[in-house]
Amino acid sequence: MESLAVLILAAGLGKRMKSDLPKVVATTCDKPMIHHVLETASSLNPERIVVVTGHKKEVVVDCITKGAKTNSYDISKIQYADQLAQLGTGDAVKSALPALESFTGTVLILYGDTPLVSPKTLSDFLKTHASSSSVLSLITVNLSEANAYGRIIRDPNSKTIQSIVEAKDCSPAELSVTEVNSGIYAVESTFLRGAVTDLKNDNAQGEYYLTDIVGAAVSEKLPVATYSIHSMREVQGVNDLYDMSLVNRTIMEERVKALLKSGVYFEMPDTVSIDAEVTIGAGTKIGPNVQIRGKSSIGSGCVIEGTAFIQDSRIADNVHIKLCVRMEKAVVGNDSMVGPFAHLRPDAVLDEDVKVGNFVEVKKSHLKKGAKASHLTYLGDATVGKDANIGAGTITCNYDGYKKSETIIGAGVFIGSNSSLVAPVTIEDGATVGAGSVITKRVEKDSLAITRSPLITKAGWSKKKRG
Ligand code: UD1
Ligand code: CA
Repeated sequence: MESLAVLILAAGLGKRMKSDLPKVVATTCDKPMIHHVLETASSLNPERIVVVTGHKKEVVVDCITKGAKTNSYDISKIQYADQLAQLGTGDAVKSALPALESFTGTVLILYGDTPLVSPKTLSDFLKTHASSSSVLSLITVNLSEANAYGRIIRDPNSKTIQSIVEAKDCSPAELSVTEVNSGIYAVESTFLRGAVTDLKNDNAQGEYYLTDIVGAAVSEKLPVATYSIHSMREVQGVNDLYDMSLVNRTIMEERVKALLKSGVYFEMPDTVSIDAEVTIGAGTKIGPNVQIRGKSSIGSGCVIEGTAFIQDSRIADNVHIKLCVRMEKAVVGNDSMVGPFAHLRPDAVLDEDVKVGNFVEVKKSHLKKGAKASHLTYLGDATVGKDANIGAGTITCNYDGYKKSETIIGAGVFIGSNSSLVAPVTIEDGATVGAGSVITKRVEKDSLAITRSPLITKAGWSKKKRG
């Protein structure tokens, strides 16, 4: 096949996004749009990739440079071309001509705001282009609602493409056309140079439209080919946040579908949001409204009842996450149970068979095998020994207003309800703390510690007061 260069248009203002950021750095549920496009472009192994930047160029370049760490594109293959003023897609391509000066072959033009086109579609498209010997091929799609997309105008008899007309320039008859321009073109470099140099801006938006190169080729009687695809999913352009939501929905549907096929059950798949790097084992069941973010991993046989936010956490096998749990950078061991309404903050580490129940907050604490904190507790900077039982309302007082201190609770310890453990403090193995105690000193192994004001009862006092 001929040499290939990929041109990515990424200079636009993105006014319809109502944001100060350049549109192509806007993040899909996954990553910035430009990362998607660069990964796809790289997969085609082009001789070079030219990104046209303009509006807030430094933000776009920085986003691309940072993205190279986590995405599969090679920064050394990317060149930048400056579009000084955003005068339209045709002008953007014109700005890239110097970067293509030494190049002869096929130029694949992609728009930075069309993130989901697949490598397979593009390589099939390029093959068809090469075998058609056209100077220009473009991908089109039929839509039930063509909205703002450029319309493909064909000769009524021969059905060959004549031109692309932007929605804003369309007559009512043209507006009713349902075949639209995806914004993906394969153009022979020699034709491209002349065609973009000759573009005019006498249209509704006063812009230099790249789409006018189609009409130019047709009037020079040069062959133009169209390549139709059947679904909008891959070529959904993002002009505003509504379009972004459609892209996100596609990404999420694909991801959830792959997980369902691998044996993860989602009760209401449309309500979950799962990041790209998340792994989930077969046999796990996930209820509605669950977000699993970052580098989280979830084992097999788990149940996540619903309404949970799980960020960068590791959950082992057969764990039961009850309704309304938030966790971040937490680790949960096999057969443990968390929630309902529990909060695991960074460095909460739960070993096997641990129970953290309702209204319990755990921060930077290690709960060893079989430990339980079933209700209304705060454990911060603490170690909780094997099989220890933390009664309802127990608080580790880990902060004195200046610094944080540790609480160490030994194996088999029983902390009675509503106790305050004033750190730094150690409660040795097998000890018992009586309900309502405030513990400020070490409690020896197997002993009972209790701080309690004496109970006074005055017989008949209430009755007398009532009179
Ligand atoms: C464009 C097409 C339209 C097509 C649609 C597909 C034109 C004139 N119209 O319309 O036929 O159906 O895409 O999604 O091409 N850009 C620059 N410099 C500029 C202007 C734009 O680099 O001066 C970049 C943008 O960053 C964006 C891409 O080009 O990535 C497309 O621009 P946009 O303004 O979104 O074009 P559409 O109106 O969507
Ligand atoms: Ca667009």
